[in-house]
Amino acid sequence: ALERTFSIIKPDATRRNLTGKINAKLEAAGLRIVAQKRIRMTRENAETFYGVHKERPFFNDLCDFMTSGPVVVQVLEGENAIMKNREVMGATNPADAAEGTIRKEFAENIEANSVHGSDSQANAAIEIAYFFSGSEIVG
Ligand code: CMP
Repeated sequence: ALERTFSIIKPDATRRNLTGKINAKLEAAGLRIVAQKRIRMTRENAETFYGVHKERPFFNDLCDFMTSGPVVVQVLEGENAIMKNREVMGATNPADAAEGTIRKEFAENIEANSVHGSDSQANAAIEIAYFFSGSEIVG
């Protein structure tokens, strides 16, 4: 089915000027960037966005990292976009990521792992709505 998923190019990647290289991989995988903006996340943005992880030991570091520089938030559209994006991203930990994936090629470590992608249709809808209004998404 045609789906939309939410994606973030994280501060480790924007710092190294990798936005275009990451977008090229997303597009080569058949994903269409139907919304995109470069923003600086606030502490409140990061804590709300990653709220499901608030009891995890890495939560505070993760929020520090996500607010440490610009991010590019995106809506990606395509057939099975959620699974397709997870495939092209690769495993959370770049040490476990498959050859050719974004995290294998670009991620620095399990925290500074270059990209985020929604893990389910329900979360994709919540995450897209948190960062984008309907009129910003042009399919
Ligand atoms: P992401 O897919 O955005 O979801 C949660 C983020 O927490 C993850 O990518 C990493 O950036 C970060 N993180 C840091 N440490 C861990 C860990 N041990 N397990 C999972 N995620 C982690």
